[in-house]
Amino acid sequence: MTFKLAHFSDLHLGPLPRGAVLRDFKFKRVIGAASWAFNRRQKHLIGVVEALKKDIKAANQDHVAFTGDGTNIASAVEFQQLRIWMDSFGKPDWMSYTPGNHDAYVYIDWKKGLGLLDAYMSSDMKQDQPFPFVRLRRNIALIGLNSAAPQRLHSAEGTLGETQLKQLAARLEELRLKGFYRLVMIHHPPAPGLAAKFRSLTDAPQLKTLLCREKVELVIHGHNHVRSFHWVEEGGNRVPVVGVASASITDKHPHPAEWNTYEISRNKGQWQTVVKIRQWRGVSKGFEPAHSFEIEAA
Ligand SMILES: [Fe+2]
Ligand SMILES: [Fe+2]
Repeated sequence: MTFKLAHFSDLHLGPLPRGAVLRDFKFKRVIGAASWAFNRRQKHLIGVVEALKKDIKAANQDHVAFTGDGTNIASAVEFQQLRIWMDSFGKPDWMSYTPGNHDAYVYIDWKKGLGLLDAYMSSDMKQDQPFPFVRLRRNIALIGLNSAAPQRLHSAEGTLGETQLKQLAARLEELRLKGFYRLVMIHHPPAPGLAAKFRSLTDAPQLKTLLCREKVELVIHGHNHVRSFHWVEEGGNRVPVVGVASASITDKHPHPAEWNTYEISRNKGQWQTVVKIRQWRGVSKGFEPAHSFEIEAA
């Protein structure tokens, strides 16, 4: 039986709602709103977003991973808009969300911000901390990390923190012993060198060490708005890492919107993972197959 996971990221859902800047006023939000008005507004289109939703729904997926940056300036009204959009997409037990840096663009109270999406970040395992959450689907464990933390102006960095890394280590070991395919979902690229300096994960070296030590089956991320595939190697082990492009960018841009499917199956004691990428085409106003490849067993 093949398990199909859809993956998209960096929706940067627009338009920026009224009151996004003025309610809970913060200077950084003004900068972010200017960036939306002069740049992102022409790039991230609602027509693409709606076509993406339709395409994924029609593709009969077992689960959907949305790896963050659903908002632009982390305002309460944007989170309300995002929750409505996600509810129109699918049920929280069918879709998982991992926060991105734009979802913590400035500090916002959990209840007014990411807390509105908590049903999409719930865990099937008993735990004291909210992250990492784990969703168990057949023999696949979907592990969601939170790399979003408020940063200084012009920084798009992320951080997991010691507590989350410690909890992740315990979960990965536990799930390996139980024989699960461990698929880690995170907004930021999970190893040093996969993102520019002021856009990277501050504890990427620690995360890389942990992922390689545990020989995690797959890591998926967003953030760079570009399609990517890397083997991350350390201590003689290697881990496949897939980055997905933004989900809402027009094809007037060099890296138009895409979403991925990971088709995971177990054959003669070996995991098999096939990646299929669909890309937005403005001419047909829809998504079409763009590339596919198989990830060989590590
Ligand atoms: Fe983004
Ligand atoms: Fe990001």
